[in-house]
Amino acid sequence: MRTQVGIVGAGPAGLTLAHLLHVVGIESVILEHRSRDYIEHRVRAGVLEHAIAELLVDAGAGDRLRREGIVHHGIELQFAGERHRISLSELADGRTIVIYGQTEVVKDLVALRLDTGLPLLFEVSDVSVDALESERPVVRYRHDGEAQVLECDVIAGCDGFHGICRPSIPTSVLREFSREYDFGWLGILAAVAPSNDELVYAHHERGFALLSLRSPELSRLYIQCRPDEDLDGWPDERVWEELQIRLGLDGWTLAEGRVLEKGVTGMRSYVAEPMRHGRLFLAGDAAHIVPPTGAKGLNLALHDVQVLADALGAWYRTGSQALLDAYSAECLRRVWRAEHFSWWMTSMLHRADADGDFGLRLQLSQLRYVTTSHAAATSLAENYVGLERV
Ligand code: APR
Ligand code: PHB
Repeated sequence: MRTQVGIVGAGPAGLTLAHLLHVVGIESVILEHRSRDYIEHRVRAGVLEHAIAELLVDAGAGDRLRREGIVHHGIELQFAGERHRISLSELADGRTIVIYGQTEVVKDLVALRLDTGLPLLFEVSDVSVDALESERPVVRYRHDGEAQVLECDVIAGCDGFHGICRPSIPTSVLREFSREYDFGWLGILAAVAPSNDELVYAHHERGFALLSLRSPELSRLYIQCRPDEDLDGWPDERVWEELQIRLGLDGWTLAEGRVLEKGVTGMRSYVAEPMRHGRLFLAGDAAHIVPPTGAKGLNLALHDVQVLADALGAWYRTGSQALLDAYSAECLRRVWRAEHFSWWMTSMLHRADADGDFGLRLQLSQLRYVTTSHAAATSLAENYVGLERV
C-alpha cells in the first residue's frame, strides 16, 4: 500500500492530523493498535484552550463541541480554607476555555474519518517504521494476521508516550529531558451534577484535589495519591471522604454520586528533541508529556498537528520544505512554555514531603500572590487559556 502520510496512532493527535490533511486534499492512512471501542472509552483530559477549540470548529470537526462544550470564563484556586477566582477571560483578552472530554473529541474524529471512507485501521500489531532518512519511509505492521508494508512520503509518529516511533530515532540524535514526581492522581468520573460552576484547584495539607466536570450531569474529580497507589485501598466511600476533606469549605459540601470510573495516573514531565528525524515527525505525547495540573497535554498535541498539517500543506503545494524544517523548533517553543507552566502549577499545588514546612510556606505565599496580584494572576490566566505567541 502507498500513501502520502502514514500516521501511527489514533489518539487526538493522529486523528486530528488526518482530518486537517484531508481538508487540504492530502491522503493519509491511520494505523492504531487498540480497538475502536477501547480508544472511544478511555477517560482522559477535558480542557480545550480557546484557540484549540477554534481549530477543531474551523476544520469542521466541532459541531458537537460547539453544542455540548461548556465555555468557562474562570477557574478557582482554593487554599487555607478560602476559594479565590481567577477570571481568565478578563485577564486574557476575552479568551476562555471549553470543557469537552478528550474521549468525545476522539469519538467525533473517528466518526468523521469513517464517514470519509478513508483508511483508519484498528487492532494492527507489530508496527515498526523504517527507511526514515530516505524519501520513501515505510511502516510495517500486521493486520488481520497478514504482514503489510505501507510506503509513505512522510510518517507522523502520533503513537503516544509508549509508542514505537520515538524509540526508532537513533539515540545519537535524540535528546531527552525529564522529571519524575513522587505522586500521581486518583481520578473518578461520577454521575452527579458538578458542585461548582467552575474548576476548583485545591491546595490542602493532605494533598492536592481537583473538582472538574464533563457535562451538567457528570463530575470529574481527582485527589493526589502515590504514583503506584493501589485502587483496592480506595473504595468509593473513602474517595468521597477524602474529596470532602480536601475540597470542603465552611458552608459548602461536595455533592456525591455513583462512581462510573476510577483510575490512577502517574505524573511526569518529558520532552524529546528534536521532534523530527528525516521523514519521521513526532507529535503529541510521542514527543512530550506534562503533568496534568496545567491541562496542557491535549492542547499541545493538537497544536503540534496544526503546525505539521500547515507545513505538509505548504510542501505539497509549493515544494518548499521550509516549514517542515522549522516544525520541531516551532513546536518546542510552545512545548517548553507548557512544560514550565505545568511544572509550576504542579509544584504550587501538591504536597511534597521532601520540601517540608518551608516548601509549604512557599506554596501558600505563591498562591496568595497569584490571587491578589493582577500581574501574577494575568500570567497564570494567559498560560492557562493558551498564549497567542510564545
Ligand atoms: N502502533 C499503533 N498505534 C499505537 C502504537 C503502535 N505501536 N502505540 C501506541 N499507539 C496508539 C495508542 O493506542 C493511542 O491510541 O497511539 C495512540 C496515542 O494516543 P494518545 O496517547 O492519546 O496520544 P496523543 O494523540 O498524542 O494525545 C495526547 O493524550 O495522554 C493524553 O494528556 C494526553 O491529552 C493528551 C493526549
Ligand atoms: C479534567 O477535567 O480531566 C482535568 C481538568 C483540569 C486539569 C486536568 C484534568 O488540570
